[in-house]
Amino acid sequence: MSLTRIHNLSISLDGFGTGEPQSADAPFGHAGERLHEWMFGTRFWDAGGTAGVDNAFAERHSHGIGAEIMGANKFGPPGWQDDTAWKGWWGPNPPFHTPTFVLTHRPRPSIEMEGGTTFHFLAAAPAEALETAREAAEGRDVRIGGGPTVVRDFLAAGLVDHMHLVQVPIVLGRGVRIWDGLEALEDAYDVEAVSSPSGVTHLTFTRKAGS
Ligand SMILES: NC(=O)c1ccc[n+]([C@@H]2O[C@H](COP(=O)([O-])OP(=O)(O)OC[C@H]3O[C@@H](n4cnc5c(N)ncnc54)[C@H](OP(=O)(O)O)[C@@H]3O)[C@@H](O)[C@H]2O)c1
Repeated sequence: MSLTRIHNLSISLDGFGTGEPQSADAPFGHAGERLHEWMFGTRFWDAGGTAGVDNAFAERHSHGIGAEIMGANKFGPPGWQDDTAWKGWWGPNPPFHTPTFVLTHRPRPSIEMEGGTTFHFLAAAPAEALETAREAAEGRDVRIGGGPTVVRDFLAAGLVDHMHLVQVPIVLGRGVRIWDGLEALEDAYDVEAVSSPSGVTHLTFTRKAGS
């Protein structure tokens, strides 16, 4: 069965998945790179990195994934829709290597990149977008790639089977939070936590049978 999964979603202690304001120079606003420093130190990110707990979680990101869904604000800085040449942050060979669906109210024609990534742009409710992505995934799982707004919407719609969150010991105070409107979300999931020597906590939410 094809699952809907979230991986490596890094949040502050106060639940923010990005700081503010987002811009071309500061994609995560005042958070800078602090939400992902744990990942930059792993072998998943850098061949010279660590191979411990953080790496074991990080590398699950790509296994068995056949498509990704991301939000417009992950794909580019505010106003990217006005730049017809914008193809995302990631250069000619983005790290997705599958069909990748960008949710936006201003869709544009698909863009085929190197390495198997094709960006498709669609305005669709979460369930409909998931159906489209699942078809493209050809039996493999669909990853919800963020940002926090899109993650929150898919969680609220009850569409997420497995979520790996990384709680980073920083307090951002402002930005985009993932938990708003998700009261008692944990009731539908088996939740586990693993502390890493790097200082982050890996949390997994696995949907309970029948939820
Ligand atoms: N912490 C992490 O691990 C992590 C992971 C990924 C990304 N990020 C960061 O998170 C930030 C982006 O997050 P965000 O919460 O601001 O935004 P986001 O979730 O990336 O995108 C939200 C936007 O996507 C479009 N959208 C969402 N649902 C839609 C739908 N059903 N139909 C059509 N369009 C839809 C809307 O944009 P329009 O109306 O403008 O089209 C909406 O404003 C970036 O800084 C990114 O780098 C963090």
